[in-house]
Amino acid sequence: MGEILKTVKLTKNFGGLSAVQEVNFSIEEGDLQSIIGPNGAGKSTFFKLITGEIKPSSGQILFSDQDITALPQTKISHLGIAVAYQITNIFPMLSVFENVRVAAQSRKTTFNLWSRALAHKELTGETEAILELIGLQEFQNETAANLSHGDRKRLEIGIALATKPKLLLLDEPTAGLSPPETRQTIELIKKIAAGLTIILVEHKMKVVMEVSTKITVLYYGSLLVQGTPDEIRNNEEVRRVYLGGVVC
Ligand SMILES: Nc1ncnc2c1ncn2[C@@H]1O[C@H](COP(=O)(O)OP(=O)(O)OP(=O)(O)O)[C@@H](O)[C@H]1O
Ligand SMILES: [Mg+2]
Repeated sequence: MGEILKTVKLTKNFGGLSAVQEVNFSIEEGDLQSIIGPNGAGKSTFFKLITGEIKPSSGQILFSDQDITALPQTKISHLGIAVAYQITNIFPMLSVFENVRVAAQSRKTTFNLWSRALAHKELTGETEAILELIGLQEFQNETAANLSHGDRKRLEIGIALATKPKLLLLDEPTAGLSPPETRQTIELIKKIAAGLTIILVEHKMKVVMEVSTKITVLYYGSLLVQGTPDEIRNNEEVRRVYLGGVVC
């Protein structure tokens, strides 16, 4: 197995603010690691650095031992890192089915939809499998704009999965979801975690404690501690700065 992603002294400054400060993070292949921390801790910035959406001020990012620090976002995506957080990944006027299929198709750079009927069939099969996984088969012909917030968040995950990533970043996938929708998303995350390495940013501690193999705590841009859910739950410093003494 081994490490799939590692950051070395990763730093991002915005003017005088160190949003991410000398973070040495690592994740083993097959793990589901959560990143927690108060608002503004640098979690989303950390994700944007990994995907290449923004470039670090200093430090390195290694993906399967390859230095990806200076690579453009599209190259990083082709290497197998996908992220689900921006609702804008969804094409609102396309159907649910088309949204997933377009993402699956984007993976095949030399693919020509019209001349290769077999590949077309394969894409349709992959798309159907993803729709079943995210529980949106019955809405496959629905225009994406008409989906509920919860269904849209799961479609967002489906679009990320369609690119067949090796590493999936999920930024607050249950934000704004009702308890039943949250439960549905937890079950989905557990299912996809069986065959994929995942980094999850999540505020709901119950979700984090239930699904994570490991947890990293960020605090004002710095990595405070990395450990198993039990270690994090029982860590005095974490309780003081983040959990606020709340037992979870
Ligand atoms: N483009 C930017 N320009 C300037 N400052 C920024 C920028 N992006 C983020 N920041 C600042 O960097 C810090 C970290 O922000 P970030 O969005 O990474 O936090 P977060 O941990 O994701 O918070 P939340 O839990 O609220 O989503 C914050 O103080 C934020 O205001
Ligand atoms: Mg954030």
